[in-house]
Amino acid sequence: MFSEPIMLVTSLGYFFLLVIISTTSCEEFNLYGEAGQAYALEIDVGHPQQKLSVLVDTGSTTLAIASYARKDSNKYFRSENSTSIYNSEKEVQAKYSQGTWVGHLVSDFVKFPSLATVPEVRCDIALITKSHKFFMNGSGWQGLLGLAYLPVGAWGENVVVGSWLDSVEKALNKAMSFQLKLCGVKSSTNATHYGKFEMLDDDTISTNHNVAFRTPILRKRWYEVGVLSIRVISKRNASMNIDRNVTKDSGDNLDVDQENCVKLNEEKSIVDSGTTNIRLPDILFREVVNELRNAAQTSNMLILDEFWYHGEAACWPEPQEWSLPPIAIDLLSADADNQYFTLQIPPQNFMRVVTARNNSGEGGSVSEFCYKLGLEAGGKETVLGYTAMEGLQVLFNRSAGWIGWYPSDCGPNAKVTGPHNVSTSLLSLCQLTKPVPDVAVSIKAAQWTLCAISIIAAAVLIYLLAPCIKMMLVSPLPMSQQISLSQAALVEQDTT
Ligand SMILES: *[C@@H]1O[C@H](CO)[C@@H](O)[C@H](O)[C@H]1NC(C)=O
Ligand SMILES: *[C@@H]1O[C@H](CO)[C@@H](O)[C@H](O)[C@H]1NC(C)=O
Ligand SMILES: *[C@@H]1O[C@H](CO)[C@@H](O)[C@H](O)[C@H]1NC(C)=O
Ligand SMILES: *[C@@H]1O[C@H](CO)[C@@H](O)[C@H](O)[C@H]1NC(C)=O
Ligand SMILES: *[C@@H]1O[C@H](CO)[C@@H](O)[C@H](O)[C@H]1NC(C)=O
Ligand SMILES: *[C@@H]1O[C@H](CO)[C@@H](O)[C@H](O)[C@H]1NC(C)=O
Ligand SMILES: *[C@@H]1O[C@H](CO)[C@@H](O)[C@H](O)[C@H]1NC(C)=O
Ligand SMILES: *[C@@H]1O[C@H](CO)[C@@H](O)[C@H](O)[C@H]1NC(C)=O
Repeated sequence: MFSEPIMLVTSLGYFFLLVIISTTSCEEFNLYGEAGQAYALEIDVGHPQQKLSVLVDTGSTTLAIASYARKDSNKYFRSENSTSIYNSEKEVQAKYSQGTWVGHLVSDFVKFPSLATVPEVRCDIALITKSHKFFMNGSGWQGLLGLAYLPVGAWGENVVVGSWLDSVEKALNKAMSFQLKLCGVKSSTNATHYGKFEMLDDDTISTNHNVAFRTPILRKRWYEVGVLSIRVISKRNASMNIDRNVTKDSGDNLDVDQENCVKLNEEKSIVDSGTTNIRLPDILFREVVNELRNAAQTSNMLILDEFWYHGEAACWPEPQEWSLPPIAIDLLSADADNQYFTLQIPPQNFMRVVTARNNSGEGGSVSEFCYKLGLEAGGKETVLGYTAMEGLQVLFNRSAGWIGWYPSDCGPNAKVTGPHNVSTSLLSLCQLTKPVPDVAVSIKAAQWTLCAISIIAAAVLIYLLAPCIKMMLVSPLPMSQQISLSQAALVEQDTT
């Protein structure tokens, strides 16, 4: 008599286990991109629906799509084909850190087939009619899904283009958050990268995140956050850039270098999935890269300065394993203003795969595995591009004004550690509470930060044997696994 309920319970247990296994193993990824080209999502626009791909961009606000054939692509939105389009005829424009476009404001129905819980909504769309350095040659996307706040939306005379996210919130009548899980490359031999974009209902408390590392959004325009330092975690010394004597408690009680954190946030620091690299002020870029370069030299990995300082690619005939230290990014905590946490970004993130071609089978052609540094120098601004997000889950809670960082089950082994306490307010130490300039002015003055996508498709490849020779002169024992004389280093140059 007792055995039956027990059997029922165990079989129920198996059933749930199965459900859990099948739901976790059948996870669907909806973001894809070619190497160096950010992450794109499939979109249905208009009635009848036209399928396109849009880049997922937290560095802008507007849904903007091509409405004309470009030189290298005739995939675009045919507005005359949509029966539901409403054309305002108003001209709008946007300017990004790379590229500009002009277009007109329309509204139409938009649905993302991979987001089952998000209804189709009518929303503002900027139909791009002319662009400059905006669409990449051969890019797999025809537009951009901006996910930031309205103050940095595309604009025209007396118009600001409304955002898709706001339209969704209005339709559902509740606040929505979104999460990006970016996984990086598929494998060491396939440079296609993949990930998952999810919309989360703010009413349902997210259960899968028990540890909360949240950074406050300092101003709701771009996703502006407080970056306290970007440093190399040296093996001997886990506390770089952090001055003074380490007192007690296992190094947790450290003080942040004020000069650096003021410099990092002087203009603004933003989280931008539409940018590839981690962009930091010139001086700090030099510091971090010098250290990485030294670490590479110490472990007998000889890579040209063009790679480290000029954004060029370095190539090998086989995939590389990097024995470099991780980079730490310290972010202000939303829990207390004297607290921060640390993102640990492993070398798989910042030694970005740009080409992975295995031609061993075919006659003649060479196998090549090329990498670019995922760091760049950029004036006064700090940008955490997707290089800082791969291997993590990043939750953008728009209404509550924070960004949560969590470990992920895919991609490089990035970590989040902390929290660390300091003795003073980091808001005032790093001058993070400066008044916001007038929003209307800032919209027009803004150099919008998107798409620092290195132009790979258009690049010219130059094979150089020079590094091998140079290496022989410099290094008495170049017999490491990374490079040997038989290997030609390949340097890639942007044509622009
Ligand atoms: C609508 O699009 C289809 C192809 O997608 C095309 O063949 C057709 O001519 C278009 N119709 C109009 C009115 O443009
Ligand atoms: C890489 O993976 C993508 C997506 O799965 C696939 O479409 C593509 O063919 C792969 N490329 C190579 C060279 O295997
Ligand atoms: C966003 O933040 C609010 C307030 O902290 C919280 O109630 C809500 O659950 C959060 N949303 C998600 C998806 O975590
Ligand atoms: C360790 O940190 C100190 C300052 O805290 C610094 O002077 C020193 O150069 C660091 N050591 C290494 C190996 O980076
Ligand atoms: C560390 O503390 C010792 C003793 O308190 C002091 O002599 C030394 O100068 C301090 N070093 C630094 C870098 O502050
Ligand atoms: C490249 O392909 C060859 C044959 O197809 C295979 O033996 C080799 O393991 C591959 N190399 C890598 C790095 O995957
Ligand atoms: C850090 O500060 C918070 C409150 O400000 C406190 O609850 C926590 O215990 C502190 N942690 C450490 C390690 O000192
Ligand atoms: C763009 O890509 C196509 C093939 O995909 C190529 O034929 C063309 O030369 C490229 N254009 C430029 C400017 O690189």
